[in-house]
Amino acid sequence: MKSKEMGEIIMTQAKLTLNNDLEIPQLGFGVYMIKGDEATKKASLQALQTGYRHIDTAHAYQNERGVGQAVKESGLNRDDVWITSKLWPSEYGEGITSEAIDKMLGRLDTDYIDLLLLHQQIGDYIGAWKDMEKAVADGRVRSIGISNFDGERLDHLFEVATIKPAVIQVESHPYYPQHELRQKMRKYDTKIEAWYPLGHGDTQLLTEPIFATIGQKYHKSPVQVILRWHLQVGNIVLPKSEKPDHIRSNFDIFDFELTN
Ligand SMILES: NC(=O)c1ccc[n+]([C@@H]2O[C@H](COP(=O)([O-])OP(=O)(O)OC[C@H]3O[C@@H](n4cnc5c(N)ncnc54)[C@H](OP(=O)(O)O)[C@@H]3O)[C@@H](O)[C@H]2O)c1
Repeated sequence: MKSKEMGEIIMTQAKLTLNNDLEIPQLGFGVYMIKGDEATKKASLQALQTGYRHIDTAHAYQNERGVGQAVKESGLNRDDVWITSKLWPSEYGEGITSEAIDKMLGRLDTDYIDLLLLHQQIGDYIGAWKDMEKAVADGRVRSIGISNFDGERLDHLFEVATIKPAVIQVESHPYYPQHELRQKMRKYDTKIEAWYPLGHGDTQLLTEPIFATIGQKYHKSPVQVILRWHLQVGNIVLPKSEKPDHIRSNFDIFDFELTN
């Protein structure tokens, strides 16, 4: 399906329903390692003009201001763009996390964050989670989740959490499909968000002959086949790029379907 918006023809994209009944655009735009606010604003604006409606940043990326500026300059309604950001462990702890959320809202220049994640499983993540739950109650944050949790700490967080994480963001790509975690998260209807969806640009992954062979059938590139695989296994997927042609082609994955 195609629609006209912001002066460009864009593909309409898929959404997933989270365990709090909010709908998240399944394809997001990752901004890890885009250096500085200016470059981040430029790439994010390009993504929004292409049709992406979901941007994934973090305090640690030091580019949240660029994301906020892109959303403002895009002219889109705030409600039409999903913004995810992440707290660093130095910001964990009751009281401390609440203040960190206020500062994050300032950097992003927004009244609310769609999805807030604990970036790493160290420090007082339980104290942080309590403040995140309060931020959901008072409307500063709409959904909360975790990143890079596993083992006992993952179980511990789920045990004590009143609001169960809406997502868990972990490394995932065809070399690392995360089947076990996906199975485990079914109980809570917690969705998997894939970081390094293209293996961080891993040449070996991107040149695996199987993706080129499958791509020929659909007139799609190996990268598009990999991104389509993510969608069909149910991942929320966050490819990063600073190249306009990559940003566009990474979004052009809604008009074909892989077989099982
Ligand atoms: N929670 C966490 O701990 C964590 C960790 C890592 C990442 N993340 C999130 O996940 C996002 C994605 O991860 P990532 O950025 O590290 O890796 P990625 O998206 O797997 O790969 C990005 C690399 O692939 C290249 N690329 C993108 N599209 C391409 C295309 N169509 N053809 C060829 N090359 C292409 C990019 O180069 P160009 O810029 O030249 O296109 C870049 O070098 C991050 O931006 C971030 O939001 C989260």
